[in-house]
Amino acid sequence: MQTITTVAALTAAIQEAKQANKTIGLVPTMGALHDGHLSLVNRARKENDLVVVSVFVNPIQFNNKEDLAKYPRTVEADCEKLAAAGADIAFVPTVEEMYPEPVTTVYHFGPLEEVMEGPRRPGHFSGVAVVVRRLFDLAQPNRAYFGEKDFQQIAIIRNLLEQIKYPIELVPCPIVRADDGLALSSRNMRLSHEAREVAPTIYATLQQAVEMSEYEDVESVQLWVMDTLSSFHEVNSLKEGLCFEPEYFEIVNDTTLQPISDWSDCEGIVGCIAVWLDGVRLIDVIRFR
Ligand code: PAJ
Repeated sequence: MQTITTVAALTAAIQEAKQANKTIGLVPTMGALHDGHLSLVNRARKENDLVVVSVFVNPIQFNNKEDLAKYPRTVEADCEKLAAAGADIAFVPTVEEMYPEPVTTVYHFGPLEEVMEGPRRPGHFSGVAVVVRRLFDLAQPNRAYFGEKDFQQIAIIRNLLEQIKYPIELVPCPIVRADDGLALSSRNMRLSHEAREVAPTIYATLQQAVEMSEYEDVESVQLWVMDTLSSFHEVNSLKEGLCFEPEYFEIVNDTTLQPISDWSDCEGIVGCIAVWLDGVRLIDVIRFR
């Protein structure tokens, strides 16, 4: 595997691959790689001749400076994992290399960014779109791989591709979970031991919500998830300060991401949650239909 840090070197490598008629798979990441990321790399490896993985903590998608400062950076370990997973190129640029000029582009996604993460992280999705478009321009992939853990991000990228009309196939990949059900996330390493022990409650609650959806209406299920997590520390007498603070749990149309009011409203339905635990913001998704 080649580790490339400059735009010039990446451009040269891509040109060479294009001349040899190789198909290119791109996996954008912010590093701190775990098996969730690597599942995307494995899938890309199966489907393309050249696999490019970017490792870049994109400052313009963080609306919170502290979150950016605290973001784990483990580039050496990341490159080892990528080499082992069979990636061809790890693209690890500096901020200056990615953004030689100040970024002025702003992307809009209409109703897709008016829900869930959108209002809570102003500017986030535009920042994601800017970096992903830049990566598309540089890597010129045939396929790009994104995880369904960030469900709204996939909808945003799908919309971005419609806006910029690039012939890139977006490949959504299923969420990878720890054995106890917790969705893998680079943020999990910030959880204390106690918090990590109770964190699987999030997915367990979502699974129960799916069972409830067989006989309860949408609003009841939505409220039940919020209440169950909010009151978990009292019911289970957890130590002080250790509690779930759900920010939202939305039951939405899986394409438009708009909240539904009835299970018969549309075919594809998912539930998306953001919940604070121990000062860490975790997100997860479950499919209802
Ligand atoms: P990051 O959070 O590093 O995630 C990179 C990719 O890995 C995303 O597509 C994400 O959905 C996927 N991923 C993370 N955890 C996963 C899991 N448990 N199972 C399956 N896939 C998982 O998402 C970003 O970076 C950035 O916004 C990025 C797209 C790189 C733009 O900066």
